[in-house]
Amino acid sequence: MSRMATVLFAISQVALYFAVKFILGSLDPMKDKKKEAKAKSNEVLGKLGIKDMKLNEYEEIILSEVIFANEISVNFKQIGGLDPIIQSLRESVIYPLCYPQLFKSQSGLLGVPKGVLLYGPPGVGKTMLAKALARESGATFINLHVSTLTDKWFGESNKLVSAVFSVAKKLQPCIIFIDEIDAFLRERRSSDHEVTGMMKAEFMSLWDGLTTDDNTRVIVLGATNRPNDIGSRFIKDYAILRRMPKRFAIRLPNEEQRRNILEIMLSDQNLEPDFDYDQLVARTNSYSGSDLKEACRNAAMIPIREYMRSHSTPEGELTDIDPKNMNIRPLRFSDFFVPDCTTNLNDTASNSAGSSKDNEILEQERLD
Ligand SMILES: Nc1ncnc2c1ncn2[C@@H]1O[C@H](COP(=O)(O)OP(=O)(O)OP(=O)(O)O)[C@@H](O)[C@H]1O
Ligand SMILES: [Mg+2]
Repeated sequence: MSRMATVLFAISQVALYFAVKFILGSLDPMKDKKKEAKAKSNEVLGKLGIKDMKLNEYEEIILSEVIFANEISVNFKQIGGLDPIIQSLRESVIYPLCYPQLFKSQSGLLGVPKGVLLYGPPGVGKTMLAKALARESGATFINLHVSTLTDKWFGESNKLVSAVFSVAKKLQPCIIFIDEIDAFLRERRSSDHEVTGMMKAEFMSLWDGLTTDDNTRVIVLGATNRPNDIGSRFIKDYAILRRMPKRFAIRLPNEEQRRNILEIMLSDQNLEPDFDYDQLVARTNSYSGSDLKEACRNAAMIPIREYMRSHSTPEGELTDIDPKNMNIRPLRFSDFFVPDCTTNLNDTASNSAGSSKDNEILEQERLD
C-alpha cells in the first residue's frame, strides 16, 4: 500500500512539474515573438544557404533584420547624378568587404572602414543609395531598426546590441545599416534614459572593437539628414564621427544632376518630340530628388486625367475604355506647371527648398 502511495505521489509530482512548466510557458509574453523570430531566422539561414549555425535567441531576433538582394528593387542605375559617390562607395566599401585579398597590409592601413556616413538634406537619395548598395554589394545586409533594439517586449537591449555585432561577424562580409542614425546615436545627453544610455555605450564599444580587428569584414553604414545631431569635429561629441571616417555629403542636385535624375525618371514616358529638358532643369532649381519625383508623378498624371475625363459620364463613371488601345497623348513640358487642387510646382519648391534646407546645407558644411 505504501509503495502504491509513493508511486502515486511521484506521478503527481511529475504531473505538477509539467503543469507548472506549461503554465509558465504560456504566460511568457515573449513566447509568440520568440517563435516568430525563430521561424524567421530559420528562413533567413535557409536563404543564406547556411546549415547548423548556432544562434542564441537575441541573435535570432537580429537575423530577422537581414534583407536580400532579390527583395530590393532599387539599383545604382536608377540613381541620378550621384555617380562619383557610387564609384567611391564601390571602391571604399564593396571592394574591401568582398575582395579582402586585394586590401591586405601588415599595418592594417588598407581594408574596410568600420563606419560610413551618408548625410545630406531630406529626399536627396541617401536611403535609396543604401538600398542599392544592399542589392549590389553581395555582402549580408542588416537593416537595423532601432525599434528592434528598444522593443519593450524583447527588453534587454544590451544583449540585442551585442547580438547585432555577433551575427554580423558570423555572417561577414556584412553591412549593418542604420537609417536616421542621428535618432539612435545622437550625442549622449544627461537627460537620456539610463537604458538608452547603456545601449548606446554598448554599441559604441562593440563598434570600436571592429576597428581594432583587421580580420572582421563588418561595416556600420549610417544615413542622416541631421548630421550635426551626431556631432562635429569642432563643436560636439566627436566619438561617433570618429567611428565613421568615410563620410559622403549628398547635396541638393545641381543642374547637371537634375537633368540626370529627370532623364532617368522620365525614361519610360512618352514625351512630346521637342520636350524642353533645359527649361525644366532651370525651373526646378533647389529641388531634391524626391521633389523631382513628385513633380514627374504629378505631370505624368495630367494626360491620363485628361483621357479619363474625356471618357467619363457626368456621373463620373468610365466608359468606352479599351485597355489594350488607350490613346493617351504624350507628356508636355507645360504639364509640369498645371496647378491642381494641391500645391503647384513653385509652392512645392519654396516649401522644400526654403530656408530650412539652406540651413541644413550650411550645417553640413561644418561637419568636416
Ligand atoms: N538621386 C536620385 N535619383 C533618383 N531618384 C531619387 C534621387 N534622390 C531621391 N530620389 C527619389 O526620392 C525618393 C526619396 O529618396 P530617399 O528616401 O533616398 O531620400 P533620403 O535622402 O533618404 O531622405 P530623408 O533624409 O528624408 O530620409 C527616392 O525613393 C527616389 O524616388
Ligand atoms: Mg532616408
